Amino acid sequence: MSYRYITTPIYYVNDRPHLGHAYASIHADIMARYLRAAGHQVLLLTGADEHGEKIAKAALQAGEAPHAFAERHARAFEEAWRRLAVAPDLFVRTTAPAHARVVSECLTRLYEAGEIYLADYEGLYSVGQERFVTDKELVDGKLPEDKEPPVLRREPNYFFRMEAHREWMRQLLLDRPDLIQPAQYRNEVLKLLDEPIGDLSISRPKDRLDWGIPVPWDAGHITYVWFDALLGYVSPLGYPDQRAFADYWPSVRHMIGKDILRTHTLFWLGMTHALGIAPYARLHVSGHLLGADGRKMSKSLGNGVDPLEAAHRYGVDTLRYTLVREVSFGFDGIVSNAVIEQRLNRDLADNLGNLAARTLAMVTKYRDGMVPAPRTYDGAETAIIERAGQLPGIVLALVEEMKVGRAAEQIMEFVSQLNGYVASSAPWLLARNSETSDRLSTVLYTLLEALYSVSDLLAPVMPGKMRELRLLLGAAAEPGWNVSWGAGVEPGSRVSEGILFPKQYEAD
Ligand code: MSP
Repeated sequence: MSYRYITTPIYYVNDRPHLGHAYASIHADIMARYLRAAGHQVLLLTGADEHGEKIAKAALQAGEAPHAFAERHARAFEEAWRRLAVAPDLFVRTTAPAHARVVSECLTRLYEAGEIYLADYEGLYSVGQERFVTDKELVDGKLPEDKEPPVLRREPNYFFRMEAHREWMRQLLLDRPDLIQPAQYRNEVLKLLDEPIGDLSISRPKDRLDWGIPVPWDAGHITYVWFDALLGYVSPLGYPDQRAFADYWPSVRHMIGKDILRTHTLFWLGMTHALGIAPYARLHVSGHLLGADGRKMSKSLGNGVDPLEAAHRYGVDTLRYTLVREVSFGFDGIVSNAVIEQRLNRDLADNLGNLAARTLAMVTKYRDGMVPAPRTYDGAETAIIERAGQLPGIVLALVEEMKVGRAAEQIMEFVSQLNGYVASSAPWLLARNSETSDRLSTVLYTLLEALYSVSDLLAPVMPGKMRELRLLLGAAAEPGWNVSWGAGVEPGSRVSEGILFPKQYEAD
């Protein structure tokens, strides 16, 4: 059995989730579903990053205690994932005692090994990003992703000797060209590693920030939120000594957005190396979803599309499909209501929905709603059967490379091929003549069985709608994978008519 571990970022719970968060989580969920379908033992992790200045500040503004505030928002994230058909196996909360224990243990171990020391720190601090920033990163006096400029701070901090791991990190990236994908992000990190990266401040004085995990040997300091949160990838597996950690960690793939590339390379690779944890297997870096104004969707800018509203309006499966088709992982792209409607109307309603509706209507009309038995296959059918047999392998290979949109595109091309087959075989003409009755049965059966394949192939992207399709086809409700031709729909069983994707024209 092969174990696979997939993680989303562990989200700050200072507000409700927006579409940018949904983008990463939906991709991770889709990958998890494909790998599971292919027979892997998969764990999908998501969670809530509850500590730190950002949350403390937001709680204060809301007039709530940080604990209650974070709890309320963590619940809202859990609920959002449920509604977006994101089904994590693990939901880490950084306020969980088991997590805090792992963080304390790791800190103590590194401190005792001389990897951590105390020093005065002066620098510019971005509260928005929860980290000290360098002059080089600033544009017009602030980080491009922040609303407010960083503030000057001088205070005693504990430091992690990150610089000492730089040469090792550089070598790791050179030895493992596929470690960070797409490649442009690997190059970015290699460039950072060409120059000193310095040591990492990993604590805040308690008198300034009280919301976090205390430094175990010095009650006057609170653990820096990133040091805390990154360990949220290992604590739910029972690091260091539980079986799940040994089983799942070697396969781990992190899915993140490009704005947290630095923390997931310099910080996290340095930390894992110092702790003796193997580096992650893959870091998949996404670009950003942009609002209609062309700027990164963000809670602070308020230019986001609400994922729950979009799911309610267009259907969760349409939203999931649009996100993967519209914005390739690694690149920026705009998603608006108009974009979702176009995908819904063209790809889902006109292509896939129409194929299903026509096929089911013809089976109802010409075969009394019963799946006919096929007779003799000719060239057109052979091509379809061959393609249906190839697609699971093609799709999985693309998914392994995080090219989920390309995978969905290949499946939709198969759907177009099937629509072409309806036109060229013209079942309505075959139905006019009893001599072509066998031919009609073969054509209808081929369409039903191919639709069944499509329902399995697209189930990870659109779990709800593909289940609906399988039920219309009279097939099993649960998806299969790489089901051999002839084992999907059963001759003699009953199909139903239905409209999978009603068209919509509502966008402004
Ligand atoms: N808490 C940290 C992550 C810690 S992981 C150990 C954090 N949280 S976040 O809630 O601010 O962001 C989480 C993820 O959402 C990041 O990967 C970020 O890139 C992603 N996105 C936030 N806005 C986004 C878009 N507009 N588009 C795509 N992804 C976006 O950072």
